[in-house]
Amino acid sequence: MNSQDLRAVTWTAATGDGAPSVSLIDQTALPQTLERLDVTTVDALIDAIVRLVVRGAPAIGAAGAYGVALAMAQGRREGWDRARLDAEIARVRATRPTAVNLMVCVDRVAARVDEGIAAVLAEADAVVREDLDANHAMGAHGADWLLKRVAPEGDRPLRVLTHCNTGALATAGWGTALGVIRELHARGRVEAVYADETRPLLQGARLTAWELVQEGIPHYVQADGAAAGTILRGEVDAAVVGADRIAANGDTANKVGTVAVALACAHAGIPFMVAAPTTTVDLGTASGADIPIELRGEDEVLEWSGVRTAPAASRGHNPAFDVTPGSLVTALVTERGVLEVAAGELPGTRLR
Ligand code: MRU
Repeated sequence: MNSQDLRAVTWTAATGDGAPSVSLIDQTALPQTLERLDVTTVDALIDAIVRLVVRGAPAIGAAGAYGVALAMAQGRREGWDRARLDAEIARVRATRPTAVNLMVCVDRVAARVDEGIAAVLAEADAVVREDLDANHAMGAHGADWLLKRVAPEGDRPLRVLTHCNTGALATAGWGTALGVIRELHARGRVEAVYADETRPLLQGARLTAWELVQEGIPHYVQADGAAAGTILRGEVDAAVVGADRIAANGDTANKVGTVAVALACAHAGIPFMVAAPTTTVDLGTASGADIPIELRGEDEVLEWSGVRTAPAASRGHNPAFDVTPGSLVTALVTERGVLEVAAGELPGTRLR
């Protein structure tokens, strides 16, 4: 399958006696198997988000949007009153704290609960459609900017580094940072992608590499710890990453390890680009210091494939994200165009 056609999150209407479901590509099973998990209850949806069956800020947003409809359908089956329904929707909204898309999408869709489930589903469908459109737009803006900045002299293909997975799997389709890379590839302008493996759950090695294989894009998987050296040796022309939340001053929360990539890019004097839809920009958050960072379970760093690797007495520290200062973000690409944040084009003044 061409991964451009992947839909990580869809809604399946009720059939016969079967309850309606939110249908998710099970991202824990990739790259070995491409299978879907259909969840019919709020508990099952929350469990899937926590276990990273569905992950990536826009994809979590889509799951939350359909989650509102799921809660309504479950509430109808189980006779919930309005207070219970609101509480269940609030639980979905709070499942992961860093990606603001989850909260934005749940709130947008939940505002239509009084109009009934059809209106809620129409709003969730719009969330997904708009994200897909945004990704294609930012892919074009990002590719234009990179080619002009990095290879103004001609048609040289680029060597691009990326971190985590920001492709079709992480979004409504196409991808954010990976969408920019796809667009460059479509224009014949990718020499190679360096895909950081992404600790602790290997979203890069398992998911980004899988999407790049589907597209036939040449790439190397490398350890996160290799990224700075690869950049400083001059083997990369630019880094392009996604985001989970961007504060008004341009500080950007993204998968843990991202800030090391940004620091290396600054030292090497190459662009560090963040690609994200405006739904990831949180103008209500002044700076990165105000972004809540998800702290995940210790076992994800103390174990490997369920087998304990660290000494029994060791404790784990497992922040899922870090914050890159806006001063290191050369370019922020949204569906509306490119902001040169490090040069002073701040989201808080340009995107209001
Ligand atoms: O923990 P994850 O896999 O949900 O983290 C995902 C990331 O950090 C992505 O870079 C970000 O959500 C952008 S996805 C388009």
